[in-house]
Amino acid sequence: MNHFLEVKSLSKETIEHLIQTALGFKNKGVYPDYSAYSVANLFYENSTRTRVSFELAAKKLNMTLINIDLDRSSESKGEVIEDTLGTLSVMFINIFVLRHQEEGLPYKLVENLCSTAHLVNAGDGCHAHPSQALLDMMTILENKPDITQQKIAVLGDIKHSRVARSFQVIAEKLGVGELVFIAPEVWQPQSFSYGEVTQSLESGLKDADVVMCLRVQKERLAEEEHMNLKTYQDQYMLTPTRLQLAKPDAIVLHPGPMNRNVEIEASVADGEQSRILEQVKNGVYARMAIFEGVLE
Ligand code: CP
Repeated sequence: MNHFLEVKSLSKETIEHLIQTALGFKNKGVYPDYSAYSVANLFYENSTRTRVSFELAAKKLNMTLINIDLDRSSESKGEVIEDTLGTLSVMFINIFVLRHQEEGLPYKLVENLCSTAHLVNAGDGCHAHPSQALLDMMTILENKPDITQQKIAVLGDIKHSRVARSFQVIAEKLGVGELVFIAPEVWQPQSFSYGEVTQSLESGLKDADVVMCLRVQKERLAEEEHMNLKTYQDQYMLTPTRLQLAKPDAIVLHPGPMNRNVEIEASVADGEQSRILEQVKNGVYARMAIFEGVLE
């Protein structure tokens, strides 16, 4: 695994190996030493958990970590991103962690990257968020080891969600028993290769083992895609009553950041069934495994 660009390009065995490695880091607390390597975080879109967890992952592995301040970089003077990466490469940066609004940009960039550099996609537009998919699946497997027997419901703005897109691929690769995407028509995807899509909250949530809520991404909506938030809350917000449609031991996930009381009622987000903060914690270990994976 030279780069980590999207789940599609990983084999089932590689995904399982990355998750087992992440669980090993978490459960044993013993980490390898990668002090000979350097990582640069380049976040062209805002982030809290992904940026910080990649930073902590690098530090736990004893790597040198540079957070590039893009507001003060030479891109403000016209330098193109390819030259920024090339410049940093010759200053011995081995891994670039990139979040960018342009879909597919990581694929273009790796074509010109020097052979010793590795690119990790930390989210490209609405396209992919593979490290999120890895930590989501890690969290599910910790709680529900036999995923071939599980029903997973993903609820919210599926159309614009890179989290949903990457999750769909990892679910297919690992053979999730039943995958259902629940969304109002305006936020349903044009095409999805695995799982079913429904407008019906009732049938979608019924007997689910895992319920993943997604953020309402106001910043990504075209004018005709805007939906009255009150209508969305009334029809789709995950409330304690609606959660009762799922199995009694169902777990609740959310990739964050959350809009409390928009897509998920605060009492559900903070409730007993929530694993949202566990997802955040697992993100550090999943990203350590990704660093190891690209350097191996
Ligand atoms: N889940 C996620 O990508 O969160 P951030 O935008 O805070 O990194």
